[in-house]
Amino acid sequence: MTEVRVTVDGVNYADDVEPRMLLAQYLRETLGKTGTLIGCDTSNCGACTVHLDGQSVKSCSVLAVQADGSEVTTIEGLARDGNLHPVQEAFRECHGLQCGYCTPGMIMAAVDLLGDNPDPSEQEVREGIEGNLCRCTGYQNILRAVQSAAQHMKPGAAQPSGQAAEAAPVAGGN
Ligand code: FES
Ligand code: FES
Repeated sequence: MTEVRVTVDGVNYADDVEPRMLLAQYLRETLGKTGTLIGCDTSNCGACTVHLDGQSVKSCSVLAVQADGSEVTTIEGLARDGNLHPVQEAFRECHGLQCGYCTPGMIMAAVDLLGDNPDPSEQEVREGIEGNLCRCTGYQNILRAVQSAAQHMKPGAAQPSGQAAEAAPVAGGN
């Protein structure tokens, strides 16, 4: 066992883990952060996307020990003060989800994309989320949601309605 110390969604954790444990497993099984989903376990689908020190990563392709000393943000850490993150809110408003299985990963990838490129073209959104697959094939509304979020996140833009986080299903969790 190896000790790993990480900050996840603003909370510090120290746990002994198997060296082969994946970050996705650590988040779900050790910390109970089941909002981070596992679709393929082979770094293909993006369902497990989280932010590691501010960059989106597929948490099934990272060992928990590799996150030692790092800050991890999951879909469960995006909402603030009971309000959904603008990207979560945009997915809700634009119907950017069907079964919702890809949604936490899509949202984490989109937040990272908008951090790098606050006003992406449709093509740039497509390229930015190309590592995330939606089996329901609802890509058009996902694109709309990301572009809508970009508009809401511009300085001085009107904020989306801000549905209370606990009342909305967009935070994921299975
Ligand atoms: S579960 Fe990690 S990419 Fe599919
Ligand atoms: S909404 Fe079902 S997999 Fe994307």
